[in-house]
Amino acid sequence: MTKENIIVLDFGGQYSHLITRRIRDLSVYAELLPYSKSAKEIESLNPSGIILTGGPSSVYDDNSPKPDSRIFDLNIPILGICYGLQIIVDNLGGSITRTDKREYGKATLSIPSEEKLFYGIGSKTDVWMSHGDATEILPDNFKSIAATENSPYAAICSNNIYGVQFHPEVTHTPDGIKILKNFLYKICDCKGLWTMDSFVDSSISQIKLQVQNDSVLCALSGGVDSSTVALLLHKAIGDKLTCVFVDHGLLRKNEANEVLAIFDKLNIKIIFHNESDRFLNLLTDVIDPEIRRKLIGQEFIKVFEEISKQNGSFKWLAQGTLYPDIIESAMAEGPTATIKTHHNVGGLPENLDFQLIEPLRELYKDEVRDVAKLIDLPVSIIKRHPFPGPGLAVRIIGKFTNEKLSICKDASHIIEEELKKANFYDSVWQAFAFVGDDQAVGVLGDGRKMGYIVTVRIVESTDAMTADWVKLPYDILDNISTRITNEIDNVSWVTYAISSKPPSTIEPQ
Ligand code: XMP
Repeated sequence: MTKENIIVLDFGGQYSHLITRRIRDLSVYAELLPYSKSAKEIESLNPSGIILTGGPSSVYDDNSPKPDSRIFDLNIPILGICYGLQIIVDNLGGSITRTDKREYGKATLSIPSEEKLFYGIGSKTDVWMSHGDATEILPDNFKSIAATENSPYAAICSNNIYGVQFHPEVTHTPDGIKILKNFLYKICDCKGLWTMDSFVDSSISQIKLQVQNDSVLCALSGGVDSSTVALLLHKAIGDKLTCVFVDHGLLRKNEANEVLAIFDKLNIKIIFHNESDRFLNLLTDVIDPEIRRKLIGQEFIKVFEEISKQNGSFKWLAQGTLYPDIIESAMAEGPTATIKTHHNVGGLPENLDFQLIEPLRELYKDEVRDVAKLIDLPVSIIKRHPFPGPGLAVRIIGKFTNEKLSICKDASHIIEEELKKANFYDSVWQAFAFVGDDQAVGVLGDGRKMGYIVTVRIVESTDAMTADWVKLPYDILDNISTRITNEIDNVSWVTYAISSKPPSTIEPQ
């Protein structure tokens, strides 16, 4: 597959990922990079176009993010969105001013004449605005190509450089997808090569090429990511793949047996090690979740190295790292801060004996699910909720103890069972319990007894970057609560987490 690529330069806007997703949904590969990437680096990626995202800054603030101005000399089509438009104006000699009227919300865009960017849209359409600054003077050779009542320069262009003051990526701009599509297909001359079919083909040939005759060890967790990696590798290199599945004692209830049964059916070679004691001893009494993450990550690698040595020589280690993991680590220096060290990327020691192979590192989660369907991964894995690499360890608040772990495991199992019974399991992103040190009084027989408070967390999301708590019918919550307090010792209360992301995260730690 010839790679066609749109670079999205991130100026810290809340919609940066959304823009990247939208472009990919339009069958063009898009990559989110920090705004500070040099023009030379960008040019070397040979992009078909560049998008400058929105952001919270003002171009005239002292430390506002500014791109390498040489990107405007590359003769690559550019689309600036909101702050991105202001970056264009500011860089190319126009001026931006702070208006006294912040334009926020819906506005009607008037399009006086048909421009490539607005092809097929007509002369009026609604757009979503969110800005305080506005263009005062256009740079030389630029013209306004659309206006709203408050913004005479709502869209501007000069040759192949375009700017829109509104947000085409949000659903409140009903023709926004058409506008992005026009940018890709009419202005950047994209062909639409990014489909999951083409991804599967090119990824299988790439794995063959990369691995040649060497053996690959695949770190399998049983989740959709690593299982997809395993099946892709199996299709590419057959028996040269050996999967290693380590039970670190932090898996969901019955998970290990279910995963083993599935891989047995797929005829994929798998080595199973139950190392629960080793991991749990390491974690006992550790309070800080980041330390737990690191301990688990490091121990995992040690276990892999041991298993690898015991079972032959493996040059490669395959992992299910996804695009958001890469991005969240890469952007740590950029405007979008890293909140938690996420799995595969953070925990690896530098002196790793393996070379890494990460076939999914370009994909978002829902793209992985599409790939999984295409290569016939069993539905029970595809539909399994995402689960953090450090497992239940990030769902125990305060000191890590085996008692809290066991409560968390059993309660999460009850939640999943009740959701499946009520046909809700498939429509939520994640559903689990977490446990801290807080205890509350309960009634047991005729006596009062202190017991743990278990919190139920059920969220909906499309990519885990944002999430909403699920407004679950009360009777389902009631069943969950009753079963948890009845069936699990030492639990006296059940609460429901009603915080969305942001400001919360999905996992409590
Ligand atoms: P947060 O809690 O950051 O989670 O909103 C977003 C998504 O990432 C998962 N998650 C992790 N996955 N290792 C992982 O493999 C981790 O340390 C980790 N922390 C969170 C989380 O389950 C959710 O789907």
